[in-house]
Amino acid sequence: MAIQRLVEPTLPDEPTPEEIKVEVSLRPTHFSEYIGQERLKKNLKLAIDAAKKRGEPIDHVLLYGPPGLGKTTMAGVIANEMGVGLRVTAGPAIERAGDLASILTNLNDGDVLFIDEIHRLSRAVEEILYSAMEDFKLDIVIGKGPAARSVRLDLPKFTVIGATTRTGSLAAPLRDRFGHLYRLEFYSPDDIQKIITRSANILQTKISDTAAKSLSERSRQTPRIANRLLKRVRDFADVNGDGIIDDNLTNKALMMMEIDELGLDPADRQMLTAIYENYGDHTVGLNTIAALTGDEATTIEDFYEPYLLQIGFIERTPRGRKVTPKAVRHIQNKS
Ligand code: ADE
Repeated sequence: MAIQRLVEPTLPDEPTPEEIKVEVSLRPTHFSEYIGQERLKKNLKLAIDAAKKRGEPIDHVLLYGPPGLGKTTMAGVIANEMGVGLRVTAGPAIERAGDLASILTNLNDGDVLFIDEIHRLSRAVEEILYSAMEDFKLDIVIGKGPAARSVRLDLPKFTVIGATTRTGSLAAPLRDRFGHLYRLEFYSPDDIQKIITRSANILQTKISDTAAKSLSERSRQTPRIANRLLKRVRDFADVNGDGIIDDNLTNKALMMMEIDELGLDPADRQMLTAIYENYGDHTVGLNTIAALTGDEATTIEDFYEPYLLQIGFIERTPRGRKVTPKAVRHIQNKS
């Protein structure tokens, strides 16, 4: 039987419209403000400097990795550092070849086209994108039946920044069109603490260093979650205190949200418990886990699993997943 969700999970899932507004205000706009992802920043800075010197756009960039680690933010930073326009779209939003054609023909020279969830583009759209990325030409068919003819339009030179949680689902010909492929890494607790302090400053909220540290340890090494927790604790401090976020209020707020010292919430613990109670330390398939929790398999793969793998609570084998002894000790401690 599917387990029942007691509390809304704190996964790095799709931001709500309200969150997008706040997220945008918290987003760094230049490398100098962007905390973490040092290797990525170093490589991109070099590529940008070289491209600027040559007066060309930078090569297409593919950013991959778990959600909430700053792929969209990085696309904005790249566009700003290049001094060009940014057009944001997403794989599922480009339904037909014509949708892509209209986006491409409206770009200006040098612009960045950010395509989130690029693995969800349809095959037909993907194929048009190949030649657009390769030689900045758009092949379209005008008319139908015997009168149909194909025309080749020149496009402005542009840069695609694609974002995906899974490179595996990207067709090889598309993946090969990217000159830069980078994986975004989970952030160190120190970097998350710096991000929390920076965000608190922008939100004009006072937070003690120890409270920021304790929040950083429970943010699943993910900026989106860090900012989400900060806002929830700020609400709690506004209602139950004098608005200043200290240790005491942070602990109370996190306890109320049932977020433990590793940043796991009831949904994570319920999933680990359900796997362990039903399968012990044996391997279990992703679809079986999905049936146990009542989630989509992709939700488990994209949202729950990356952090649980990162902290060594789940092991992935070709035959499925299993919970580790470390995870078992943790959930037994909590019950
Ligand atoms: N806010 C969200 N992500 C950030 C980052 N990497 N650096 C600074 N502020 C952020």
